[in-house]
Amino acid sequence: MKAAVHTSYGPPDVVRIAEVEKPVARDNQVLVKVHATTVNRTDSALRAAKPFVNRFFTGLTRPRVTVLGNEFAGEVEAVGRSVTSFEVGDRVFGYNGTRFGTHAEYLTVPEDGSLATMPANLTFEEAAASTEGSHYALSMMRKAKLRSGQDVLVYGATGAIGSAAVQLLKRLGARVTAVCGLEHVELVRGLGADRVIDYTAEDFTKDTQTYDVVLDAVGKSSFGRCKRLLKPRGIYLSSDLGPLSQNPLLALITPLLRGKKVLFPIPRDNQEMVRYFKELLESGEFRPLIDRRYPLDQIVEAYTYVETGRKLGNVVISVEPSTSEARFIAG
Ligand SMILES: NC(=O)c1ccc[n+]([C@@H]2O[C@H](COP(=O)([O-])OP(=O)(O)OC[C@H]3O[C@@H](n4cnc5c(N)ncnc54)[C@H](OP(=O)(O)O)[C@@H]3O)[C@@H](O)[C@H]2O)c1
Repeated sequence: MKAAVHTSYGPPDVVRIAEVEKPVARDNQVLVKVHATTVNRTDSALRAAKPFVNRFFTGLTRPRVTVLGNEFAGEVEAVGRSVTSFEVGDRVFGYNGTRFGTHAEYLTVPEDGSLATMPANLTFEEAAASTEGSHYALSMMRKAKLRSGQDVLVYGATGAIGSAAVQLLKRLGARVTAVCGLEHVELVRGLGADRVIDYTAEDFTKDTQTYDVVLDAVGKSSFGRCKRLLKPRGIYLSSDLGPLSQNPLLALITPLLRGKKVLFPIPRDNQEMVRYFKELLESGEFRPLIDRRYPLDQIVEAYTYVETGRKLGNVVISVEPSTSEARFIAG
């Protein structure tokens, strides 16, 4: 089968399209024929090995996982002997955050992994973009035990995580202030923000309102800069380690003290979350924001675009059956 493979760390062009062995479903797995996937910031960070600390998990000198990609939507082509909840022909979508491998024509996923049957009202491309940014957003919201009526500021409301966070917070009944660039103010209002701050005209950290939660979904602020925006027991959440990789440490220390604190949840693969997103997608309460679409053959261009830091929500990859010869890479 055709896959986007990288055997060394580096810039987008370390990735090439190659023939690799098609996986076979084990007893507890489903084999998915992938129709769409995404390139996201996790894929970029792992491919580039940035930050360096990633290498302790992904391979010190070269990547152990050579086919990246963690979101997928496609059709079940085969099921293992013990699989009872999925059938051949089911349209499924989900998130393979620990095993990766979705930048390929086929993928195996455990039956109890992060997958669900697709909502009927969704395209493969929409379904593929529905689980990664949104599961980061939801994990942060759950960790902060956010409730209806709370005031939340979302910094970076046009990213994959930020655009999902605004929608999920609105559904929860939070009062949402979103920070984005001028050209996307109306779009972000459409996602459900009650108030929008244009970061090109205003420094949001000088805002006079205070918040129960500040959620930095673009990784460009810090607890120190946002502290004055927080109510006395307010919570700072970030999707990034922080400028000095300080957020995990602050998340250990600040909850021990009374007052404002940092939380830094690390989301896990979780089937319940995919089912939750399925419900919201069916009811129309959540829709992934999709920017550009690329065919798998142009994945290097997709990576290059993602790494501009300017994408609007998600970048989707359409995976069509092989049309061209690709060099075979074993394993
Ligand atoms: N998505 C993931 O898989 C993932 C996973 C883990 C961690 N993270 C981290 O989470 C952060 C967000 O990732 P993402 O994929 O959601 O989005 P992203 O690609 O980082 O965000 C792109 C968006 O951020 C906006 N933006 C850039 N600078 C901004 C600023 N100073 N103020 C407000 N908006 C700004 C851009 O809008 P303009 O063009 O208008 O500036 C663009 O729409 C990244 O730091 C990433 O490393 C992401």
